[in-house]
Amino acid sequence: MAETNLCAVLSCRALTKTHFELCLDAPAIANAAVPGQFVHIACGHSHLLRRPISICETKDGFLRLVFEIRGEGTEWLSRRKAGDVLDVLGPLGKGVFPLFPEDPRPVLLVGGGVGVPPLLSVARARPAHVVLGYRNEAAMILYRDFLASSDTVMIATDDGSVGTHGTVADPVSRLLEQNDYCAVLACGPKPMLRAVADLAKGKNIPCFVSMEERMGCGVGACLVCVCKTKHGDHEHNSRVCMDGPVFSADQVVWE
Ligand SMILES: Cc1cc2nc3c(=O)[nH]c(=O)nc-3n(C[C@H](O)[C@H](O)[C@H](O)COP(=O)(O)OP(=O)(O)OC[C@H]3O[C@@H](n4cnc5c(N)ncnc54)[C@H](O)[C@@H]3O)c2cc1C
Ligand code: FES
Repeated sequence: MAETNLCAVLSCRALTKTHFELCLDAPAIANAAVPGQFVHIACGHSHLLRRPISICETKDGFLRLVFEIRGEGTEWLSRRKAGDVLDVLGPLGKGVFPLFPEDPRPVLLVGGGVGVPPLLSVARARPAHVVLGYRNEAAMILYRDFLASSDTVMIATDDGSVGTHGTVADPVSRLLEQNDYCAVLACGPKPMLRAVADLAKGKNIPCFVSMEERMGCGVGACLVCVCKTKHGDHEHNSRVCMDGPVFSADQVVWE
């Protein structure tokens, strides 16, 4: 069960003007975490809720997180220094990325923006081809890390400064045409997830998406994070924090 941990900051450094990498000494979380899970970090002053951040990587009891400054909470987080102590709840999430250990075929990983970090631990764990979507060249977080893990890494940028000009849809379609994948695993903005899910469905390939919703408690109690999912003919409210964040794309009701 996830518990609150007081974790020392080992380092906090800027990767771009707005993206930061935070390394924490967090053995209890790091040793229990699986790809797709996240942590819920108390950010600063008491009026702020915790903020959910995906686990990017774990190693030797350390936790690596990569985040973008969006508002007050992540701005506060970006100013942490080595030696500071953070109140971290985790690892959270029961719906995680399936790794298909018995299947020798690669998975296709598709990440967009701050949806890129949680896919790195999958790329490290099994054969994978990777498509990463960014705003522009300056926002290309973790590109080199993926290159070190996979021999196929394709980039799409909104402004065309690197790779395909536009969304990830083009490179994803091309790779789906050319290769036999056991599954597509995706994390990023909802329109991107929906487009990727449609492309995978067109090829009859299982697709799993990590959903992002605003969160309150992070542990299933407040229902702030609900998204609609299908179970047979029925629709019901699933909690992204407890039932996800990763869902089979077939189950998601795209609103
Ligand atoms: C499971 C999960 C994993 C995540 N992993 C990462 C990660 O690895 N790296 C990363 O940079 N970000 C991640 N996020 C998003 C991150 O939690 C938000 O950017 C952060 O909570 C914003 O807090 P803030 O106080 O800085 O901004 P706020 O002032 O709270 O909000 C600033 C803006 O961001 C929007 N926003 C806030 N929270 C969310 C959210 N959960 N989903 C969508 N929009 C939001 C608000 O509507 C507002 O427009 C994740 C979110 C979830 C649910
Ligand atoms: S954040 Fe409270 S139920 Fe998910």
